[in-house]
Amino acid sequence: MCGIVGAIADRDVVPVLIEGLKRLEYRGYDSAGIAIVGDRDVRRVRRTGRVAEMEAAAASEGFVAGLGIGHTRWATHGGVTENNAHPHISHGELALVHNGIIENHEEQRERLRALGYAFESQTDTEVIAHLIHHYLQDGTDLLAALQRAVKELDGAYALAVISKRDPERMVCARMGCPLLVGLGEGENFVASDVSAILQATRRVIFLEEGDTAEVTRGGVRVFDAEGAQVRREEHVSDVSLASLELGPYSHFMQKEIHEQPRAVGDTIEAIIDANAFTPDLFGAGARAVLGDVEGVQILACGTSFYAGSVARYWIEAISGLPCSVEIASEYRYRTAVANPKHLVVTISQSGETLDTMEALKYAKSLGHDKTLSICNVPESAIPRASRLVFYTRAGAEIGVASTKAFTTQLVGLFALAATLAKLRGKLDAEQEAGYIEDLRHLPGSIQHALNLEPQIAGWAERFAPKQHALFLGRGVHYPIALEGALKLKEISYIHAEAYPAGELKHGPLALVDADMPVVVIAPRDGLLEKVKSNMQEVRARGGVLFVFTDQDSNFGPSEGVHVIRTPRHVGVLSPIVHTIPVQLLAYHAALARGTDVDKPRN
Ligand code: M6R
Repeated sequence: MCGIVGAIADRDVVPVLIEGLKRLEYRGYDSAGIAIVGDRDVRRVRRTGRVAEMEAAAASEGFVAGLGIGHTRWATHGGVTENNAHPHISHGELALVHNGIIENHEEQRERLRALGYAFESQTDTEVIAHLIHHYLQDGTDLLAALQRAVKELDGAYALAVISKRDPERMVCARMGCPLLVGLGEGENFVASDVSAILQATRRVIFLEEGDTAEVTRGGVRVFDAEGAQVRREEHVSDVSLASLELGPYSHFMQKEIHEQPRAVGDTIEAIIDANAFTPDLFGAGARAVLGDVEGVQILACGTSFYAGSVARYWIEAISGLPCSVEIASEYRYRTAVANPKHLVVTISQSGETLDTMEALKYAKSLGHDKTLSICNVPESAIPRASRLVFYTRAGAEIGVASTKAFTTQLVGLFALAATLAKLRGKLDAEQEAGYIEDLRHLPGSIQHALNLEPQIAGWAERFAPKQHALFLGRGVHYPIALEGALKLKEISYIHAEAYPAGELKHGPLALVDADMPVVVIAPRDGLLEKVKSNMQEVRARGGVLFVFTDQDSNFGPSEGVHVIRTPRHVGVLSPIVHTIPVQLLAYHAALARGTDVDKPRN
C-alpha cells in the first residue's frame, strides 16, 4: 500500500521524511521518492526499489530543506517505473503525493491535455498535480487551488502538496484514505500512518472525510468539505516505538504471531474485569442498540472477513439470532435488502479499508442505524462512522499478513455473540461463567500452540517445494482453513485453496494426488468423525494429509497421515487456538522459500 509523510520545520526535514518512509515500508511498496522546496525551486528524487536506494540518491544530490513530502508507491495505474513514482511535479512548480485511486482520471487527463498540459507518467495522480497547477494560474492560492481541484475528483485520495511559490506551508486533503497531521513545537507533519512520524511527535489530529488542511511551522488550520474552518480534536498516540521494532525476532509476522498470548490477554481484560458479558464492552448506549436486534449482518474483507465467518457460527449457535457475513467489496455494489432491525458489524484491523467503509456507508444509506465496528486502530474512520465499537488491543500490526488482529477480532466477536445471547435470555449464569473461564485460559492455550513451532517448521520444509496445497475444515473450523490458505498464498506464493471437508466429493477431490499436500483442521468436536471420513477420501487418492488436531481427539499418525496435536480441546474457542498452527505453517513455508515475509509482493 502507498504511504505518505510530509514535514515543515526550522530544521532539515529530509531525515524525518526518510525515517518516516522507512517506518512505512512494512505496508509494501515498489518505489519511493521525496520532494523538497528549497530557496527557489522544487527538487525531487525518486527510485524504484527500496527507500535506502532513494535515500542514497538524495544524500548524493545534497538534499537539505525545511519543507518536504515523501511517498512509498504501490503501483496501481502504470508500471513500476521512476516516472510513475511519486512525488509528481507540475511545471517545476508544485509537487504532490497521493494515496488512493482517482476514478475519473482519464476524463481529467483529456481536459488538461486540451489546456496544454503534457503528461510524463501513466498515473492517475499526475492529473491532480496539473489540476492544482491550473487553478493556481488565475492567482488562486495553494489551499484554495487544492480545494477547487478535489471537488472535481471522483475516487479516493489522501494528498500532500508543496509549492515553490508558497514555501511557508504544505496543504493536504483526505477522502477515503487515511491522513493525519502531527503537531510538534515550531514544526508540523502530515502522514498516512502515525508510525511514520512517531520519531517526531505523538500529538496528532485525524483528518475526517472531505477535510483539507493547511500546515505551517506555527500551526494547522483544518477545513471541512464545505470549506468552513473546523476544530478537530487532538489525540496523543499510544502506539509504542517498541511495537514498531523487531526486537529478537526475524520478521514482524513472527513477532506478531508470538505476541498473541499478550494481545489476546489485553483484549479479554475488560471482560475478565467485568466478569460478565455486558453491553458496556461495546460502548455507551450499547444496551439500547443491542437489546432489540433481530439479526446480524457482518461486512469485512480478507482475514477480517474470515473472522466474521467464524462469528456467524458463534452468533447463530449461542444467541439464536440469524447472521449473514458478506465480503464488503461485494455488498457495496449490489442491491441489498436491508432490515434495519439487524445489527451491521464491520470488522477491520486498520479501520480504514475503503471497501469496508463504503459497505458501511451503503448499509447506513439503506436504513441500518444499528452499527458496530470491531477494530484495532482507535480513531480510524470505520469506528468513527459506527455507533458502537469494540477495540481489539492487538497493538500495531506491522506485518502485512494479518495475525494477531485476527485472533483478537475473534475474541471481540465471541464477546458479541455471548452478549447478544445474554440480552435475549439465552445465556444462563453457569454458561456465562464457563465462557469467561474459557477466555481466561485462552492466552495459555495459545502459548501451548506456539510451542509447536519446531514441529510445524519441519512440516513447512516439505511444503516449500510444492506448487499447490489444499486446506480442509468443517463447521466453525472451516473459516480457519480459509485463513490458513490465505496466509500460505499471501506470503509463500504457494497456491492454496480451502474447502469445507464435506464438499470435497463434489468436485475438488479431482485435484488430490501425492503432489497436493492436504492440511486438515480436525479438533475433537462434533464433526470429527465426519472429517475422518473425508480424510479417507483423500488417502484413497494418494493424497498426503497434515492434520492439526487436539490432544483429546484420540487421533494418531499413520501412513500418509502426519499429525500435530494442539493443546487440550478448548471448547467453543477452539478456532482461535487452531489459527496459530496455520499461521506458523505459512510463516515457515515462506521462510523456506526465501520470500520477503513482511513485504509480500502485491
Ligand atoms: O484492515 P482490514 O482488516 O480491513 O484489512 C482487510 C484485509 O485487507 C486484510 O485482512 C488482508 O486480507 C490481510 N493482510 C491478509 O493477511
